[in-house]
Amino acid sequence: MNKNLMNSILLIVGIFLFTIGRADEGEQLFKTTCAACHTIGKGRLVGPDLSGINQKRSKEWLVPFIKSSTTVIKSGDTDAVAIFKEYNSIMMPDVAYSEAQIVSILNYISSDISDGAQEQTVITDILSGTTLENIKVGLLLFSGKQPFTNEGPACVGCHKVKDERIFSSGTLAKDLTESYDILGSAGIAAVIKSPPFPVMTAAFTNHDLTEEEVINVTAYLKNVSEERYYQRPTDFSTTFAFFGLVVFVTIFMSTVLLYFKRKKFPVNREILDRPSKVIN
Ligand code: HEC
Ligand code: HEC
Repeated sequence: MNKNLMNSILLIVGIFLFTIGRADEGEQLFKTTCAACHTIGKGRLVGPDLSGINQKRSKEWLVPFIKSSTTVIKSGDTDAVAIFKEYNSIMMPDVAYSEAQIVSILNYISSDISDGAQEQTVITDILSGTTLENIKVGLLLFSGKQPFTNEGPACVGCHKVKDERIFSSGTLAKDLTESYDILGSAGIAAVIKSPPFPVMTAAFTNHDLTEEEVINVTAYLKNVSEERYYQRPTDFSTTFAFFGLVVFVTIFMSTVLLYFKRKKFPVNREILDRPSKVIN
């Protein structure tokens, strides 16, 4: 086996074991898996602010919900259904953590309360101050025409969007055309920075986007969401105009060609001439 590959695998396994073995496991897990969508005392993100969650809900409710919120919601649990509806039916991804690991996360959330209480930060939109330039660069990055600084894969490899500027795209993952409506800029940025989805996490491990790149791609996805109603009509009219022109030019050119050919080389004459030469 390739030596470099072996080394990388050993390193990844090493880092993994190191992370798992750490005392502040709850904090680690929270930051890698939950922080994309939740804050502790810093306000609503994709999901609700989790400060005080241990007072609001029982451990018996929280552990199964965190493990698989979809299962709890499907079971018809009133609280779960209510919070799911309140958050526009965004699915919280299931996690494969043990009960002990989930409890460590909940303990971390309790211990972090002090941190949040004094810090009533108003979350400013990361897109305030962005311009058309950000959207343009975001399109280039999203579609892979411009590589990411840390060599992360182009989003278009897995995702598609309704955008005539992009010709081919992946269908492995979700269509992101409306993601901005659901997640908002904070949510999109959070998902890009620490994706809560295993496939995407794997793709961007050690290939983090820079802060600037996160903003550009988020600005682009906002633009896609806003422009989506205009995509279809423009798409069709330009396509029709283009094909119309092609058909017109083709017919026109063949007419012209036929016309000149007939004038210069009358077929009948040639055939008539040939045998007369042979006879002579
Ligand atoms: C992709 C975004 C996302 C990720 C990642 C995520 N959550 Fe959530 N979470 C949500 C949303 C959205 C809700 C609102 C309920 C719903 O839509 O299912 C929620 C609800 C919750 C609730 C219920 C809150 C309440 O007020 O009842 C808890 C507890 C929770 N999440 C904990 C976690 C923990 C712990 C993690 C990490 C292991 C995590 N979540 C990861 C999006 C996420
Ligand atoms: C290796 C494949 C892969 C790549 C590359 C990738 N993603 Fe994802 N992404 C996923 C998967 C898988 C999901 C989980 C949702 C699903 O199953 O479609 C996801 C989910 C998301 C979501 C949440 C969608 C929603 O509405 O819940 C966003 C936003 C997102 N990706 C943005 C991006 C952006 C921006 C890039 C480029 C920087 C990117 N992704 C690159 C695989 C990928």
